[in-house]
Amino acid sequence: MVEPVLDFIRPGHPLYEGELELRFRVLREPLGHTRASVKFPFEDDSLHLVAHAEGTVLGCVLFHPEDSHGGRLFQMAVSPSLQGKGLGAKLVRALEDELRTRGFRHVHLHARAPVVPFYERLGYTLYGEPYEEVGIPHRNMQRDL
Ligand SMILES: CC(C)(COP(=O)(O)OP(=O)(O)OC[C@H]1O[C@@H](n2cnc3c(N)ncnc32)[C@H](O)[C@@H]1OP(=O)(O)O)[C@@H](O)C(=O)NCCC(=O)NCCS
Repeated sequence: MVEPVLDFIRPGHPLYEGELELRFRVLREPLGHTRASVKFPFEDDSLHLVAHAEGTVLGCVLFHPEDSHGGRLFQMAVSPSLQGKGLGAKLVRALEDELRTRGFRHVHLHARAPVVPFYERLGYTLYGEPYEEVGIPHRNMQRDL
């Protein structure tokens, strides 16, 4: 397998459909949700970082700017065959580097409960009470850049 390349894309980019497919397969289909549930209302206003090789999207992470200082990291996904090999961490670090360049200082996210340790390794900390989203337990997490 060729080493994945990381690129920021926008909706309409040739890799965008591949990004949506990965998000559906990794984040929505296992929960029994439909393809229609994949897109967020702020899709066009968000940064989309994809990891791709030979035209296939293998990982992604998105960021929605909520003000000039910070926003929400969301739709973090790595293709099942590549999970546990460092790609998820690489995507988050590359996104954070870009956010620093753009002057952002804070990131928050809604972590699925079993994935909290992944974000903790990346410097994110828990805040608030557990809650349910897309039918499964979540925790709020944040970090300063
Ligand atoms: C969660 C996910 C994005 C992590 O990406 P990944 O490429 O598998 O993770 P990495 O290999 O980069 O892991 C980085 C570190 O986090 C750890 N880690 C990753 N997932 C973990 C988990 N679920 N629980 C505990 N530790 C985890 C790794 O062991 C690694 O630790 P190390 O630095 O000590 O080696 C990926 O597994 C995935 O797509 N999961 C399904 C979708 C999902 O749950 N997305 C998150 C929604 S909030």
